[in-house]
Amino acid sequence: MAIITAPSQTEPTGLTARIYAQDIDDLGYVGSHTRVLALNPEAYAAGDALFDAVSSSMDKRRYELVTLAASLGLQSKHCRLAHGAKSLEVIDRDALVRIARDYESAGLSPAEVEMMRFAEKVSTAASSMTDADSQRLRDAGFDDREIVDITLAAAARNYFSRAIQALAIDVDPSPLDDELQQALVSGTGRGGSYRGPLDRAHAHALDWLDSLPTRPVAPARTADEIAAEIDSALPDEGADDTDVVDRLAAICEPGLMAIGSGRFFGWVMGGTLPSALAADWLVSAWDQNAAMRFATPATAAIEQVTGRWILELLGLPAGSAVGFTTGATTANLVGLAAARKAVLDAAGWDLDADGLSGSPRITVLVGDERHASVDLALRYLGLGAPVTVAADEQGRIRPEALEAALENVDGPAIVCLQAGNLHSGAFDPMQRSIAAAHAKGAWVHVDGAFGLWAAASPRYSERLRGIEGADSWATDAHKTLNVPYDCGIAIVARAAAAKTVFGLHTSYIIHDDQAPADPYEKVPEMSRRAREIPVWAALSALGRTGTVALVEGLAANARALADGLSLLPGVEVLNDVVFTQVCLSFGSDERTRRVSQRVMADGAVWMSGSHWRGRDILRISVSNWTTDADDVAASVAAVARAIDAEA
Ligand SMILES: Cc1ncc(COP(=O)(O)O)c(C=O)c1O
Repeated sequence: MAIITAPSQTEPTGLTARIYAQDIDDLGYVGSHTRVLALNPEAYAAGDALFDAVSSSMDKRRYELVTLAASLGLQSKHCRLAHGAKSLEVIDRDALVRIARDYESAGLSPAEVEMMRFAEKVSTAASSMTDADSQRLRDAGFDDREIVDITLAAAARNYFSRAIQALAIDVDPSPLDDELQQALVSGTGRGGSYRGPLDRAHAHALDWLDSLPTRPVAPARTADEIAAEIDSALPDEGADDTDVVDRLAAICEPGLMAIGSGRFFGWVMGGTLPSALAADWLVSAWDQNAAMRFATPATAAIEQVTGRWILELLGLPAGSAVGFTTGATTANLVGLAAARKAVLDAAGWDLDADGLSGSPRITVLVGDERHASVDLALRYLGLGAPVTVAADEQGRIRPEALEAALENVDGPAIVCLQAGNLHSGAFDPMQRSIAAAHAKGAWVHVDGAFGLWAAASPRYSERLRGIEGADSWATDAHKTLNVPYDCGIAIVARAAAAKTVFGLHTSYIIHDDQAPADPYEKVPEMSRRAREIPVWAALSALGRTGTVALVEGLAANARALADGLSLLPGVEVLNDVVFTQVCLSFGSDERTRRVSQRVMADGAVWMSGSHWRGRDILRISVSNWTTDADDVAASVAAVARAIDAEA
């Protein structure tokens, strides 16, 4: 039931009476939309006059086809049904059913199809229309006046239908037969059944994104609370797609973390750039299984080009294999799997034939502060626990300690370095460590989940000097580059080394050994989504300059936060702020925990509690492209409030 109450039909006087009489003439009754909109009879009459003016110079069949297409774009049940009925005066019933189902294949003339496409687009994407759209109508034989008439008829339909939709006016019973009604309402064909749920998803997505600058960052509800509310048996009967989307949004909204907020500094999680988010939607709509060049050439071509751009940006060796994974954990797995195979090959052990049982022991050397995902990857690979090498006060591997540890290594070895320490943001000394490792024939893998992007910036790349000499690198696009979850990037310098691990020949996969590697030959999955597409979109939208500005902007905001926070009473910044990470102490561990809890409870920002170098800390990671000076000031103010409350 609509919220606006329509006046009854018995009371009208003056202009309203004339408007009602007109409807009775046309329809045999006064439509609910007329009763609601005629609450402002002057505007209603002006609208009617507009429709008359627009339609008077058009042939009725043309006007109705344009109206049907514009209403389809608007998904307006009212207008589809009302103009379905009016169209019967000029279009035969069976032809109308076909047009309603899918005007593209309804036997209309090419000019009429072009005209309906144009009118539909006026309702769905007017802001992206260009001269090319009008040119198609011109090519189909329409002159300028006719093009303007078609546009005005479609645009006027938007005015009317949008008002009816916005006021949730009830749809009146239609005199049309069921089949015709169904065809008009469902708008089947050409994505008709997708349109309703996608329109709702679009609206919910924009509501969410619009809320980010002002909403509290933390979720309002816990997983247990939400699960308790929705816990029920799987229903026997399915629900309407659109209702499912609405219900999903209503369930999830209170339990979402505002990771896309400029005041979210938790763990190391990036937001999402508009271009990358939109591209990610297309990835879902296109639903390409991006494993093979032959099957999905467009995504393979994008992967090829994006891979090259990444190598150029980061200054890594041309020709390296670039694969797209779920995240840095899997990208670390890729690099270390290639390493395992290569060092065992060099030791004369056939891993593929004989497995690991009885193989020479591989020594894996890691810095004391490597990320836990490295240990995880080693576990997946059956390589056991690594040998840890001492790190300095910023968490960087000590090169002299690495050199000493390598002295004791006999046999195959892998050295795992880190570009970007989770706590301090610091970078391992690359050049000296890589030289020492290579002198021992070790493979060097670099975990640069967020920090590898520093290599794109002339300001920060010096800290990574020599990194191009490593053998494999792992990074994320869903952190520093701000593409939507999930997307990691695995890079292996000797492309053949990755292919020997992940390549696969079967009877049904079409192979061209001369062509670049298939996407699946560089990562653990075969079937997968086209993760490279949002990366391509992000890099295209940013360009080299924008990518550098993004990386440097994150680091500058981390610096600004550290500067602002260090002025607050009792705050100690524990790390040298060299990139995007800041570690804070508020005094004793006990006090740091209490202030941290108050910061979280305040809701204005999100930062992660952690433990670093023997102390409880509050850690900040600036990873979101939207964080700006206002967010920095608001975040400093939020921490100041927590300190005041604790005093
Ligand atoms: C240094 C480092 N390596 C690896 C990872 C794991 O990345 P992901 O969660 O994308 O798998 C992280 C995550 O924060 C990280 O900071």
